[in-house]
Amino acid sequence: MHEDYQRVLFVGPGLHGGTLGEAFRAALKSLRDAAATRVIDTLDGFDGLWAALDEPLLESNAALLVVDLEPSSDSAYLDWLRDELARRAQSHPQTPRLWVTAQALGRRGLDAALACASVGQRERHLPCDSVNPVASDPDWSRVPPHARQVFLCTGPRCVRRGALPLWKTLRRELLRRAHMETPGGVLLTRTACQFPCNLGPVLTVHPDGCWYRISNDSEVLRLVQGHLLEGEPVQELLIPAPYGGSPDA
Ligand code: FES
Repeated sequence: MHEDYQRVLFVGPGLHGGTLGEAFRAALKSLRDAAATRVIDTLDGFDGLWAALDEPLLESNAALLVVDLEPSSDSAYLDWLRDELARRAQSHPQTPRLWVTAQALGRRGLDAALACASVGQRERHLPCDSVNPVASDPDWSRVPPHARQVFLCTGPRCVRRGALPLWKTLRRELLRRAHMETPGGVLLTRTACQFPCNLGPVLTVHPDGCWYRISNDSEVLRLVQGHLLEGEPVQELLIPAPYGGSPDA
C-alpha cells in the first residue's frame, strides 16, 4: 500500500446493489489491494460498518481510514460518525486509530478513481478522536430542545432561484442571534424539493406549519426577527392562499 493505513473502508448507501454499486466495486478491485479494502453498504444502516471495525487487525494501534460516500453528508453527520467511530475504536482490543474523509464523491456520485485518490489526500482526513467540542455537543440519543425546525429547500429549482446564498445568511444570522441549535432556538435543515418550486425559494417553519417564499437577505432577517425570535409568522412573506399561508391565516 502506498498509504500507511492498514485498512480502508469505503462506506455509503447502495455500494452493494444496483448498477452503480457494482461498477464502483469492479473499478475499486482494479485500483486497490483487496486485502486492505472493505466496501460497506449503509443503505439499511451501519451494522456492516460496526462489524467491519470489529475485525482483528495485523497490529495494535493500526490506522484505519473510513472513506464516507454518503451523498447527503454534512458536518453534523460527520461529527456523529467520527464520534461513533471513536467510541468503537476504544472498545476494540487493538484500539485502532480511525480517520474519516468525505471528499470522495464525483459530480455524478460514485467514482472509484476519485474515492481511491482521496485515500492519499491526508490533509483532508479528519481524526475521530478529536471531534471539535462544539459540534459534538448534541446528545445523539435525545430529541433536542429546539423550539422550531426550519427547512430551507435546496432542491434544484430553489437553488436556481438563489436558495444557497439565503442559507448562508440565515445560518449566519441565527448564529449571531444565538438562536442556532440552542434550547428554544432553531434547528436549521436543508431539504430536497418541497414541491411548490414555482413559488420558491421555499422555506417552511415547523411545528407552526408555515410556508414562506424568501427571496433576499432582508427577507431572511425579517423572518428571523419576526417568526424565529418573536414567534409571530411574518404574514407578508408567507406564500399566499390558496397555495400556502399559515394554518391560522
Ligand atoms: S426545488 Fe424547492 S420546492 Fe421544488
